[in-house]
Amino acid sequence: MKKLFVITLIIASCNCFGQKFEGLALTPPMGWNSWNKFGCNVSEKLIKETADEIVASGMRDAGYEFVVIDDCWQVGRDSMGFIIADPERFPSGIKALADYIHSKGLKFGIYSCAGTETCAGRPGARGHEFQDAYMYAKWGVDYLKFDWCSTNGQNQKESYILMSKMLKKAGHPIVFSLCEWGGSKPWEWASEVGHLWRTTGDIYDCFDCVKKHPGYSNWGVMKILDMQNGLRKYAGPGHWNDPDMLEVGNGGMTVNEDRAHFSMWCMLAAPLMAGNNLTSMSDATRTILTNAEVISINQDVLGIQGLKFSSKDSLETWFKPLEKGDWAVCFLNRSSKTVKIEFDWNTKVYDEFSQRDLNAGETVYNLLDVWTRDKLGDTKKRLEKEVAGHDVLMLKLTHK
Ligand code: GLA
Repeated sequence: MKKLFVITLIIASCNCFGQKFEGLALTPPMGWNSWNKFGCNVSEKLIKETADEIVASGMRDAGYEFVVIDDCWQVGRDSMGFIIADPERFPSGIKALADYIHSKGLKFGIYSCAGTETCAGRPGARGHEFQDAYMYAKWGVDYLKFDWCSTNGQNQKESYILMSKMLKKAGHPIVFSLCEWGGSKPWEWASEVGHLWRTTGDIYDCFDCVKKHPGYSNWGVMKILDMQNGLRKYAGPGHWNDPDMLEVGNGGMTVNEDRAHFSMWCMLAAPLMAGNNLTSMSDATRTILTNAEVISINQDVLGIQGLKFSSKDSLETWFKPLEKGDWAVCFLNRSSKTVKIEFDWNTKVYDEFSQRDLNAGETVYNLLDVWTRDKLGDTKKRLEKEVAGHDVLMLKLTHK
């Protein structure tokens, strides 16, 4: 009896047991989030129009599922401590909005923060964790992004475990997205707590710049890519490294750069959360966001994050093992000038993490350019191809 009591005590006090809903996000989550384009300018009108566009543009059919309202939907708490949505911007209330999103065959996501206030100064969840989790469950929220502002004296691991447990207790299956910017190395502890965790500070809509603010910086796409070094072993089905949401179509980058950004996020098995204005999306942007071949590389069931194989003179070569013995290869030209790629398929490519050997010297693969859909022969012949500046050549290698 005494032994049982001690065991129960250990279970209750230790954080060593999984809390999150299992069986969710078995491939990287895909969806749309309001922050990158709209910041605090969110409303039920915007979210409904966006959901309509996800369907009309073919994005839903391409796999985009979660429609997430980021910061600024909330304005206060009532006398009982329950969270209040902005009544002017969300006059029908959050439940009605969630129902609308669900009626479109999509899933609904929301944002909150572990601290007393969100990053935009709205009420955070601190001290109201179960109350908020309970409301989300009542509304039918399927995805929660949980931020890390106004967290004076709080500890990341404890705060995120607490919210994860409360979500579980509230009972509605929910994808839990940790957003503490990599400060406590969540990849080392969060795989049982949440389904994805941000690895860096916020993305900035440029290819390779840094946007400095007092006390923090926002990072261009290449800067964020470089910060993923060493993290691939932590990702897999149900637990993903999150290099932040997409900037594709937001105007800060050229079409080539947007394509390179999207390609690399696919190679990284990163969550694909579009962040652009879908109601005014160009054809070029839609073509990037809905390319089925490229998305299938991101959504491959093995969930193996890509490997940076080599880097020479601004040209990087990345490999990603796929199911059925297939592979994706991406040549990333980080320079602004066109370069010529030459690749001898006899080159030894062994991925220690997945213990997979490309072995293209013996196994012959067919080559498909996943952007142009051109068939480029097979791996018996040395690859020679030009890639424009700030662009990629991305291939799928399929067993003959
Ligand atoms: C932080 C997050 C962003 C966004 C804003 C909202 O900066 O990292 O992704 O959610 O807060 O205020």
